[in-house]
Amino acid sequence: ALSACGSSEPEAAEGEPELLSAGNLTVCTDAPYKPFEYPDKASPTGYTGFDMEIIDAIAAEMDLEVTIKDAGFDGLQSGASLAAGQCDLVASAMTITEEREANLDFSEPYYDSKQSLLAEAGSDIASIDDLDGTKVGVQQGTTGAQYAKDNVPEGAELVSFPSDAELYAALSSGGVQAVLQDLPVNLEHTDDGNYEIVEEYDTDESYGFAVKEDGSEDLLAAINDNLQALRDSGDYDTIYEKYFST
Ligand code: ARG
Repeated sequence: ALSACGSSEPEAAEGEPELLSAGNLTVCTDAPYKPFEYPDKASPTGYTGFDMEIIDAIAAEMDLEVTIKDAGFDGLQSGASLAAGQCDLVASAMTITEEREANLDFSEPYYDSKQSLLAEAGSDIASIDDLDGTKVGVQQGTTGAQYAKDNVPEGAELVSFPSDAELYAALSSGGVQAVLQDLPVNLEHTDDGNYEIVEEYDTDESYGFAVKEDGSEDLLAAINDNLQALRDSGDYDTIYEKYFST
């Protein structure tokens, strides 16, 4: 495909993206993962959030309808869901990593993130070194789970949950004392003042949309072109400010 340097010529060299269902972009996500993807009855796809709005805008540019399929994150990040033909694209706050790039292809980055530790406000946990004797919750297959594995002291027990909903349910029921997860997601759980961000870890993560390795070149090129178009038009910023205004 053409990689134009600032030219706005139509991408004549680009083929039609091959899709599972013509005229439709089938998107896998693991929801709820607020503020990136969560159910919303008012939305035509049934989901909203930062990722969902960016994908809706890209699909609109491509004249495609969007179908959202909710799937477990571990299968999304391993490439299994894409390989099994469950969706054309993964939009799931997924960090671009070398390991994942072996099994799927990423778009240009669309969001920068880092890790964080969440615990009850005013608890004895003031840093990652205070976790001895506690249970620390992570979501299976995530970069947060990997970060915890590498950095949480040996005296702590890591508990891995398939979904984010189960992870935070365990925190509120006392099944775990802390959660290691992407900062914007942990921040969502500080609103009522019961929990606070204890520490942030600058892991330099960027999220990308993912497609399967083979046969998705045209789709990926179209996603990247339209992501750039959203940045150029200011629509990206409008959506960004809606979710990350502070
Ligand atoms: N950014 C992290 C990762 O890529 C966590 C993403 C989890 N996403 C989700 N929708 N549950 O591993």
